[in-house]
Amino acid sequence: MDDATQQTIYLKDYKPFPWLIDDVHLTFRLDGTATRVSSRIAFRPNPASDGGAFFLHGDGVTLIGARIDGRPVTPVVTAAGLTCAVPDRAFTWEAEVEIAPAANTALSGLYMSNGMYCTQCEAEGFRRITFYPDRPDVMARFHVRIECALPVLLSNGNPTGSGPDWAEWTDPWPKPAYLFALVAGDLAAHPGAFTTMSGRQVALNIWVRPADLAKCAFGMQALIRAMEWDERVYGREYDLDIFNIVAVDDFNMGAMENKGLNIFNSALVLASPQTATDLNYERIEGVIAHEYFHNWTGNRITCRDWFQLCLKEGLTVFRDQQFTGDMRSRAVKRIDDAITLRARQFREDGGPLAHPVRPESFVEINNFYTATVYEKGAEVIGMLKRLVGDDAYARALTLYFDRHDGQAATIEDWLAVFADVTGRDLTQFARWYGQAGTPRVSVSDAYADGTYTLTLRQTTPPTPGQPDKQPQVIPVAVGLLNPNGDQVLPTTVLELTQAEQSFQFSGLSSRPIPSILRDFSAPVILDHPLGNATRAFLLAHDTDPFAKWEAGRTLARDVVAAMILHGTAPDPAYLDGLRTALRADSLDPAFRALVLALPSEEETAQALHGAGHIPDPLAINQSHEALRRAIAGHLADLLPGVVAAMAVPGPYSPTAQAAGQRALGNAALWLWSRLDGGLAAQAQFAVADNMTMKLAALASLLAIGAGRAELAAFHAAWSGDRLVMDKWFGLQVAHAAPAQAATTAAALTAHPAFDWKNPNRFRAVFGALAGNMAGFHDAGGASYRLLADWLIRLDALNPQTAARTSTAFDSWRRFDTGRQALIRAELTRIAATPGLSRDLAEMVGRMLG
Ligand code: PHE
Ligand code: ZN
Repeated sequence: MDDATQQTIYLKDYKPFPWLIDDVHLTFRLDGTATRVSSRIAFRPNPASDGGAFFLHGDGVTLIGARIDGRPVTPVVTAAGLTCAVPDRAFTWEAEVEIAPAANTALSGLYMSNGMYCTQCEAEGFRRITFYPDRPDVMARFHVRIECALPVLLSNGNPTGSGPDWAEWTDPWPKPAYLFALVAGDLAAHPGAFTTMSGRQVALNIWVRPADLAKCAFGMQALIRAMEWDERVYGREYDLDIFNIVAVDDFNMGAMENKGLNIFNSALVLASPQTATDLNYERIEGVIAHEYFHNWTGNRITCRDWFQLCLKEGLTVFRDQQFTGDMRSRAVKRIDDAITLRARQFREDGGPLAHPVRPESFVEINNFYTATVYEKGAEVIGMLKRLVGDDAYARALTLYFDRHDGQAATIEDWLAVFADVTGRDLTQFARWYGQAGTPRVSVSDAYADGTYTLTLRQTTPPTPGQPDKQPQVIPVAVGLLNPNGDQVLPTTVLELTQAEQSFQFSGLSSRPIPSILRDFSAPVILDHPLGNATRAFLLAHDTDPFAKWEAGRTLARDVVAAMILHGTAPDPAYLDGLRTALRADSLDPAFRALVLALPSEEETAQALHGAGHIPDPLAINQSHEALRRAIAGHLADLLPGVVAAMAVPGPYSPTAQAAGQRALGNAALWLWSRLDGGLAAQAQFAVADNMTMKLAALASLLAIGAGRAELAAFHAAWSGDRLVMDKWFGLQVAHAAPAQAATTAAALTAHPAFDWKNPNRFRAVFGALAGNMAGFHDAGGASYRLLADWLIRLDALNPQTAARTSTAFDSWRRFDTGRQALIRAELTRIAATPGLSRDLAEMVGRMLG
């Protein structure tokens, strides 16, 4: 890898591109080994630029010929692109290049998947298709002609012509190259239609291989719900005659918002009751909405540069979270989002890969599609909304759409609309975009003469490149309860802006019980020392669903920590609290399922590490199991009844309500299996007519070391369905006993169906291995070696997925010196591999620190 491609890019170096483009014409003559791409681009000088060389990005494309205003020119081609002498006035650039999509294993640019052609251009894939200023602030109207004998030929915008073996598409909306897309294949459409709020008719299609047509109905309904919701809630209308979604089996990410032509990992669009779980259905609905919402937050208003990625991703995640909250249960969605944030973003923020929501530098932008940019980016918007209020938020968004439509914008632009609408100074709030690390908020309190004083302190730990942190604006939603459980102060948002601040509440008749960080009002770690009895009280009485659940969660965390650190038996206050919650029929079953679940082992490890201990993965695993057995024993009289009562009668339906019942029944089954030797799970597996119930039963069996026969039956039934087979691969690794995880994963990589070039299959095994904490960190380091071997192997073909999977190692410094040495050795071995990609080299370099 030459040095030119290893350079660090800095936000502060931003300069506009010296030219503007009005229109670009592209002609594709598709061929697996020799696709010809002709481009005709109208450039004119950019008045906002102070000039510069004419440089077009290009990566692995063979230049056949180029012309300026019709006359042949001879550009200087390098590994990164080309330069050429050009007139200092408007001119037309024409080029012809050749590329080989069938040889494209990186799945970036134009590639082939199961005989179909498809593209992935975000972030910098368009330069693998032709020479172009491949940067998001260069926006142009695209006119595309595709020549190919395959029956379905798609691109962005509206269809403007077709004939035998060709099709033309015109996108009237100027867009950056990362939103370009092209698909050609033998595909079938599940059609739909939508009439927008101004009466425009939009044709909708989900394009799949004919065999998958029966799995599209739910995705289409989700799309229609998303379109309707964006009109109703944000006033945003769709702006083309057609909206196409295509399902692709080989895809590095979840899905992509290309203008008018969203391309999806098939795992995030195809669903049938027999093959998809409730969780799959919910994610499909959320991701279809997410990509659709990008049409305004991302496409109509895009990013000036890739440092602004959270401008579109944070906002679009926030919008899809709102949507799911509206479609399903708001409370449950908020808890789910907090769980995800802690598992993924807090972990990232606490390790060597920590970076601000808006990074200031990168080597490879693909490494910054992270939980911090996405999920913390969404939390930052949620805080802004909480601080300014719903009404001001709505006015700010309207101003944002009015003011920046058609532009490539920045975080400064985003914050300016809020400042303009509210008159608020957002300088300090902007630190949320610039400072990495998870703030810790610690709580102390005092009570005297009817006045309750709450003192909050914030600190943010050092992160790479940021030793010192300034106080941030933290909205802390609090409520107060009195000892008989009545709320004496409804939810109030405190604005913590100083390092330490006190808030007083007077006129109270007795010392209140505080409920703090209601609705998870900020992405912070709350240090709120409370006794188990108080936590149990809040679990029983808090009126805020998040805080109620959180009381149980922190109680569980403390119970587990006491088991690990002191060998203490589980506190009956916790076990009784679970019993009460489980029996509370007035509570949403989905909520009760969340209360019944333990913190993840990752969450426990974070908590121990945060309290100054070295987490021992095996001890964590054993304590969690011991706690599950203790809970099962304590609730033994109730669990079988819950399993039975939550069995949803009749044909499967993916509604939130039915899914919640199944979640509670399966949470009970998960515990009960510890006592009944798996009999109930075996019975459920045998009769289940949907994947949710089948998979939960199988997981419960595997978790107690049983289920071999069921695993074989599952394989026999589903060996022809690649998405279900991903589950079959993943489940075995996820639930392997600690000492067996590496051998299980290694054996699966030798299975004939282990197609390691398919990112879903690769992730099924290695994502599961990384997620099996005790197995991944099993002493001896077999899992570390196995993963490193495969990362090196995959990197040669698919750097993006290799780099992403390498984050399995990012928590390494929290473990003991023995494990650290083993992991350091593997990271060093990866780093020393000749020809390592820029993607993986950057990740490993950052992790080694
Ligand atoms: N922009 C896509 C999304 O959030 C994610 C993505 C990034 C997909 C890069 C492919 C490549 O929705
Ligand atoms: Zn997105």
